[in-house]
Amino acid sequence: MKKRNNNQVICVSHPLLEQSLTVLRDKRTTTEEFRRHADIVSKIILIEATKHLSMKVRNIETPLAPFAGSELADKVIVVPVLRAGLAMLIALREFLPAVSVGFIGLERDEQTAQAREYYQKMPKIFASHIVMVIDPMLATGGSFDNTVTALKAKGAKRIVVVSVVSAPEGLKFFRNRHPDVLVITGAIDDHLNAQKFIVPGLGDFGDRYFGT
Ligand code: PRP
Ligand code: URA
Repeated sequence: MKKRNNNQVICVSHPLLEQSLTVLRDKRTTTEEFRRHADIVSKIILIEATKHLSMKVRNIETPLAPFAGSELADKVIVVPVLRAGLAMLIALREFLPAVSVGFIGLERDEQTAQAREYYQKMPKIFASHIVMVIDPMLATGGSFDNTVTALKAKGAKRIVVVSVVSAPEGLKFFRNRHPDVLVITGAIDDHLNAQKFIVPGLGDFGDRYFGT
């Protein structure tokens, strides 16, 4: 299900992911279809992102016999980057319905493409927590960098970042800043344009998902 580019970046590969990502990229896609396929893409990538969680034994009884089953051992905190990260949170809730959620609100300045923080609310973070940062677009990498830096300052030690589409420039920047953080993405595109949009990309994810 996956191809590894190096030991800290995983680019997920799956036929259903590629098909739905093509719908997201298509400029003719309606808001309704965009939401449906964003959900599919997010779920496939998040399955991969949760594959590294550790398990513990859960003893149960089937109708016929005792059974040593399993359940998640890791405590997970998920941090969607507002606004677009909410799309991935909606997809994740079916897999981790009781997960703790922290929020960070970041908005890119349209002139400078620098991310500006306008909101933050985090649960208490312990070193043992797996903190999963979700945002569909990794363009310059500035938003993930700001978020991960803030999380490390609050004590996070085991961080994974998850995106749908990434730019090589942003990946390089982020990897230099946080070589200890695993990146899981659905696609690595060609380049950033002068406005720091991902090319070919899919445009502004938040605007297309929220119909603004
Ligand atoms: C978009 C996107 C990421 C960020 C990526 O957010 O959702 O958060 O840009 O860019 P970067 O890697 O260069 O930081 P945007 O500012 O458009 O806000 P929105 O999610 O509210 O639409
Ligand atoms: N944010 C987006 O939504 N798309 C891009 O291409 C870059 C940043």
